[in-house]
Amino acid sequence: MKIETQYIEENEIELARAAEMLRQGKTVVFPTETVYGLGANALDEKAVEKIFAAKGRPSDNPLIVHISDLELLPRLVGEIPPNAELLMKKFWPGPLTLIFPKGEAVPKAVTGGLDTVAIRMPSHPTAKRLLELAKVPVAAPSANRSGFPSPTVFSHVKEDMDGRVDGIIMGGDCEVGVESTVLDLSGAEPILYRPGGVTVEELETTIGPIRVVTEVAEGEVPKSPGLKYRHYAPGARVQILHGTTEQVQQYAKNCCDHGLTGMLTFDEFPVFDQRLLCTSLGSKTNPQSAAHRLFASLRQLDEEGVALILAPEIPNDGVWRAVRNRLYRAAGECIINLENLPMRVLFVCTGNTCRSPMAEGILRQMMEKKGIPVQVSSAGVMGDHSPISSHAATVLAEEGIDMKSFQSRQVTGADLESADLILTMTKGHQEILQAICPQGVEKIKTLAEWAGEQEDVTDPYGGSVDTYRGCRNQIKNLLERGCRRFL
Ligand code: TXA
Ligand code: MG
Repeated sequence: MKIETQYIEENEIELARAAEMLRQGKTVVFPTETVYGLGANALDEKAVEKIFAAKGRPSDNPLIVHISDLELLPRLVGEIPPNAELLMKKFWPGPLTLIFPKGEAVPKAVTGGLDTVAIRMPSHPTAKRLLELAKVPVAAPSANRSGFPSPTVFSHVKEDMDGRVDGIIMGGDCEVGVESTVLDLSGAEPILYRPGGVTVEELETTIGPIRVVTEVAEGEVPKSPGLKYRHYAPGARVQILHGTTEQVQQYAKNCCDHGLTGMLTFDEFPVFDQRLLCTSLGSKTNPQSAAHRLFASLRQLDEEGVALILAPEIPNDGVWRAVRNRLYRAAGECIINLENLPMRVLFVCTGNTCRSPMAEGILRQMMEKKGIPVQVSSAGVMGDHSPISSHAATVLAEEGIDMKSFQSRQVTGADLESADLILTMTKGHQEILQAICPQGVEKIKTLAEWAGEQEDVTDPYGGSVDTYRGCRNQIKNLLERGCRRFL
């Protein structure tokens, strides 16, 4: 259902109007120092339900309650632990959310059924003034549609929320750029669920050791439901690259050969390929700038229509920890180790009509699924210009792989020279190639050896479709094992 969205300016009269809207149970998007929030009266269950509807958010993911006045606190929480007193004094107002035992007044809709409640006092002048004028606690998640990066600039809020909320305050860019630090003080030990603008190190200086739980093991029930959702993700696939500058550049060039590619870089990183759409997170030495720019940069690359966003590794301390947390989650933890990644793989068998073209087709499909631009080819120790064996084509087609137009060929010295990894079907092939190319002994391996197994892949030539199917399965299995070991 489309709602008529009112656009609200950041002046006193307009903010009073927005505050009145909140009191009437309407939804209002407002800027904070972290990201834009989508607010509604936290004590009004119907109003809170509108937030979930506007975001398309699962209702078990609890909301943060925003206040501007400590006087509201006793109604919202069951208890104020001593550590909370210390942290509120030091970091409120600011980008720190604290989790308390829940008070009676807070509806279950706000806490997703939990018996704890998250509270934050924002420092942004507009947020502060709005909360003061509203005189009610305001539940507010980030104002993105569920699963998208949080909006940190007005235009992104408008894109996500126009027609979905009653009002949007037209603020500027959010200073911090990533969401608040979330710290749970409701139990025996303090637990950090989400790193943010206030760092773990700063918190520990005030209250001592903190347990950091920002990942949830598979099958485990998270204490903070937000942990289980793939958050912050742009439409494009995101990959974190581990390797030297040269390796990163080579990889990025290969990606550009495959399609429109974006890259998050630092100012220090040289431009090396005009095709690559680079967006800088600022200087490598400035985590605040990286946090400030991260979400907007992801959205910007998305708008340019890239299919893939490459990103650098990020340290895991101070403010970097928050940047790393958001970026790695956007990447679905996909970290590509370029030190082990062969960019050109060559498969070799006897005639290049059965085993090696099957391996070529299967590995290419596996790499395409992962979005890794590895070049895969195959040849035979005595190939000629024959088509792929019809049974091999049949069993590949069963896997959705089309190799019908494939032509066999004999391996050349240049092939052996240029490949980074050469995988043969048997030890016999390996010995032949190693004799031709003694300088490449290290990179010439049997497929089984590379996969950490023993058995050669024997020739299905002349066999039934079933024989070929068995051979295909063996090759696929070995490739999967090898990829798990090295990629
Ligand atoms: O900076 C921010 O915190 C922004 C601005 C608008 O204030 N808000 C924000 O809200 O990021 P949201 O809903 O996108 O993220 C809230 C996070 C979620 O990961 C949620 O699971 C966790 O806080 N959370 C909320 N209440 C909780 C509770 N009672 N126990 C554990 N985790 C909780
Ligand atoms: Mg959010």
